[in-house]
Amino acid sequence: MLSPGVPVTSKILYGGDYNPEQWPRDVWEADYAAFGKAAIDTVTLGVFAWSYLQPDEETYDFDRLDAIVQRAVDGGKQVVLATATGAMPPWLAHRYPEVCRTDFEGRRHVYGQRHNHCPSSPAFRRLSVALAERIAERYAGTPGLVAWHVGNEYGGACYCNLCAAGFRDWLRARYGTLERLNDAWNATFWSHLFTDWEQVVPPNALSEHWRGPDHTAFQGITLDYLRFMSEAMLANYRDEKAAIRRHDPATPVTTNFMGLFRPIDYHRWAADLDFASWDNYPPGPREHARMALAHDLMRGLKDGQPFWVMEQTPTITASRDVNPVKRPGVLRLWSWQAVAHGADAVLYFQMRQSKGACEKYHGAVLDHAGRTDTRAFREVATLGAELGALGGAVLGARTPARVALLFDWDSWWAAEITDGFNRHVKYPAVVLGYYRALWQAGAQVDVVPVTADLSRYDVVVAPALHVVKGDVAARLEDVVARGGSVLASFWSGRVDEDDNAFLADVPGPLAPLLGLRVEETDSAAPGVVNPVTLRVPDAGGAGGSEQVDPDPVVSDAELVFEVVVPQGAEVVGTYGAEFYAGTPAVTRHRPHGGDGGEAWYVATGLDDTGLAWVVRHLLGRHGLVGPYAAYDDVELAVRERPGADGGVERTAFVLNHRLDAVDVPAHAAGVDLLTGRRVAAGETLHLEPTDVVVLRED
Ligand code: GLA
Ligand code: ZN
Repeated sequence: MLSPGVPVTSKILYGGDYNPEQWPRDVWEADYAAFGKAAIDTVTLGVFAWSYLQPDEETYDFDRLDAIVQRAVDGGKQVVLATATGAMPPWLAHRYPEVCRTDFEGRRHVYGQRHNHCPSSPAFRRLSVALAERIAERYAGTPGLVAWHVGNEYGGACYCNLCAAGFRDWLRARYGTLERLNDAWNATFWSHLFTDWEQVVPPNALSEHWRGPDHTAFQGITLDYLRFMSEAMLANYRDEKAAIRRHDPATPVTTNFMGLFRPIDYHRWAADLDFASWDNYPPGPREHARMALAHDLMRGLKDGQPFWVMEQTPTITASRDVNPVKRPGVLRLWSWQAVAHGADAVLYFQMRQSKGACEKYHGAVLDHAGRTDTRAFREVATLGAELGALGGAVLGARTPARVALLFDWDSWWAAEITDGFNRHVKYPAVVLGYYRALWQAGAQVDVVPVTADLSRYDVVVAPALHVVKGDVAARLEDVVARGGSVLASFWSGRVDEDDNAFLADVPGPLAPLLGLRVEETDSAAPGVVNPVTLRVPDAGGAGGSEQVDPDPVVSDAELVFEVVVPQGAEVVGTYGAEFYAGTPAVTRHRPHGGDGGEAWYVATGLDDTGLAWVVRHLLGRHGLVGPYAAYDDVELAVRERPGADGGVERTAFVLNHRLDAVDVPAHAAGVDLLTGRRVAAGETLHLEPTDVVVLRED
């Protein structure tokens, strides 16, 4: 069956998780009155309802959920209905201890918390599906049912005997023979040749665990266990989705992802979701580029299809050591940023604060007293009114990106579990460095898997592409062959899909494209700097780097310093220190001569200044430096959809993430959809801190 895609709605949905089972009926009425005041139109119900829906294995009791759903229907709300398997009931663990995970240390857990079932447990699989089935059967066709929400925030890992057996089955399916397995794992190393599948055990603290956390003596085994665990949980999701589909063939199904989340390979899950959704809880108050990256990654899961923000907090989180409130205007700014990057729903966790337990102080639309005269509620209501006024103006619109950034869970896992080099280097931090440079330069970026169609992009950025698999090297070569630009970084082209080194010069299959070989990889502790001087050899030459200052720039590089021997590449940047002072740190290769494309390589951990310089050269070749690139932290994000008469309807979001006000010349003429005000091209846009302009361009 074709995926039904993102839910079809008439406006950007607004609302979120609502758990009214925690308070009496009369409070529900106050809740709904408040929802009306804030233009809340959507509630997510039943995420943690299992224990009241099924008090024991033989008994289901839907009275409470019936009432909760009915109240939402009576209130005219759209309903996102969960399969209620986000947390297990106590009886389940008591009766079937196997549903509890065995942790990395080998300790079998007992009942508690949530999101902690063993994915291989037959009891969990049977009873979660039975519950999903009954819920789907009962509530399919509910008026306003807009999406199904399976489980909740899948993640973590289990190392029990059932998972060990599941791992062996998974390996048999993947490799077929022990010979192939031993080859993939390079098992002659440290005498690991397996002669029976039963000899394989999960690589936990009692097995391959090796030196600090995350490290393993056999990367191939651990990499496969990460893949297996991600797929074991995917099987749980699929089971429940199939149960829903037996009763409801059409309503879109999703689960809430978490952006740059290490344990699950979201690219492998994406095909099973009708639309992507994610929970946006940035780790700090100044994470606008990181949020943009996560939005773009989530949008890239479904090939640019709009996604949902399934959760964000209106005020504070509760899970951090220190939980500051969102400053005035920040909720609005971040919500519009999500819409600007492709979100067709902006939802909260949660509608009213939990009464007890660990999230009782987590922020909500309504506090414990249910006040509607708080700052938080007023800001929620203001945003609700704006989203209402916007109506369907950007629904379904897509990001017209000419830049792709490759994101790869295999590379993330392989780079971070490996010994050698530098454990201070974290894959998401490397990716974020490159993304931030693109974001600050105003590029619209698709964050895509290595299997994506690259033919539609002018610029492809591949940070730390540690694992090179499939035909990605050839497709990157194609980008350059047709005049495009590729930018790769250190630690790329190191290993194949099995995590075995290429028996060739580094960067393996990427070497012909990049025109160099890496001879040594030096590392240093954080803070140890090697100054890299950057200067394009012929700034005015063919291919054009017109938009860039010809003066050299010095970037403080740290952490990784590869010693590069050019084999056709030109030198763009050189190290200033160490025995490799004067040798290349950044290169450019034009394999097709001056008129073709360019393949750049950054062999070291450039700082933001250096990355900005490199990225702007590449964007400049294609006229992709944005109009606000000169203004720090002023974001431009664009969505487009087909317009009247075969034209394109283009909406630009200008977002001021700065702590101060800024005046910028408007990049285009149009109408600000939030104020109705006409804007002339070049006219001064005055943006207070957190201000947003939603410009429907003429
Ligand atoms: C996650 C969960 C929610 C809630 C929030 C609180 O996103 O999905 O149930 O716990 O975190 O931050
Ligand atoms: Zn298990």
